[in-house]
Amino acid sequence: MNQHNDRLFHVLDPRQFDRAMLDDLCALATRLRQHAKSRLGARSLQTLLPHKRAMLYFTQPSTRTFLSFDNACHLLGIRTSEIRDPSISSEVKGETFEDSIRTFSSYVDVIIMRTHEAGMATQSAALMDRIERPVPIVNAGSGKDQHPTQALLDIYTLGRSFETRGGIDGKTIGLMGDLRRGRTARSLAYLMKNYGGVRLVFIAPDTFAMGSDIKAHLREHGIPFEETDELASVIGELDAVYVTRLQTEHDVGDESKGFEHARFRIGSEQLPALKSDAVIMHPLPRGPELDPAIDRDPRAMYWRQERNGMWMRVALLVKIFEVEGELPD
Ligand code: NCD
Repeated sequence: MNQHNDRLFHVLDPRQFDRAMLDDLCALATRLRQHAKSRLGARSLQTLLPHKRAMLYFTQPSTRTFLSFDNACHLLGIRTSEIRDPSISSEVKGETFEDSIRTFSSYVDVIIMRTHEAGMATQSAALMDRIERPVPIVNAGSGKDQHPTQALLDIYTLGRSFETRGGIDGKTIGLMGDLRRGRTARSLAYLMKNYGGVRLVFIAPDTFAMGSDIKAHLREHGIPFEETDELASVIGELDAVYVTRLQTEHDVGDESKGFEHARFRIGSEQLPALKSDAVIMHPLPRGPELDPAIDRDPRAMYWRQERNGMWMRVALLVKIFEVEGELPD
């Protein structure tokens, strides 16, 4: 469904990406950011897609993903429109979600969407595949479930961080925090099947442990993982630690109440135990789990990770609209 005649069309789930596509997207993101550095290069990017329009349908809060997609579109000359509040769309008049999406598709060439519930992007893509003028659907975060474009930018960041050390293959990567409801950690774990010799370490309390669906996927693909609720016992083994926040917006009752922030955080006290060439990542926004006091540590990669996100999204749009061949050398 995601491949229309072998082209990248809908972006719904990290499992649709294989190693060749990941390597290709990362190389393209780097090429695009280099182009954009010069006035001439930036101008040539703007001429790639001025005939395309994008709809940003973000009915769940977003800063980075929204702004990076919006800017990615503008870098390529794509015009954007947005709905960020469903209370001002015709959904309040009783229009169904499907009719709303179909309406957007009448005016634009790609729909980028973030929703509080899981499965809406997939449902929209299925609708597109039934109508006369389908447009690609990009999942920019689907509830507690998936965030595929974040996983792509995380892979891009890991790849760049380990560029002179053999890339992501063979690395030990720790994922810490609310892994049960954190879609970024779930999506990143899915992409790990594309790398050889990777070992994952899940650092979370039992009640927020990584989901059994993700663990079953890792077993099926032979990716070793271990689980612990003690960062100190594993921190020295990690080449990367991916820190995440407690996803309180998905609370049922007071389930977040017992979460012990102090045990699943990185601050100055944890740094001495971390390898000198390890990287610290976080999808942001941060909570108490990531101390701003460590922002200037050379291992802190999250601000670069944020910038990488925009270039990865530019690369995705270039692929979706198949204009890579028109890039100047
Ligand atoms: C993440 C998200 O929305 O899932 N943020 C982002 O897109 N960078 C992470 C989070 O909100 O915890």
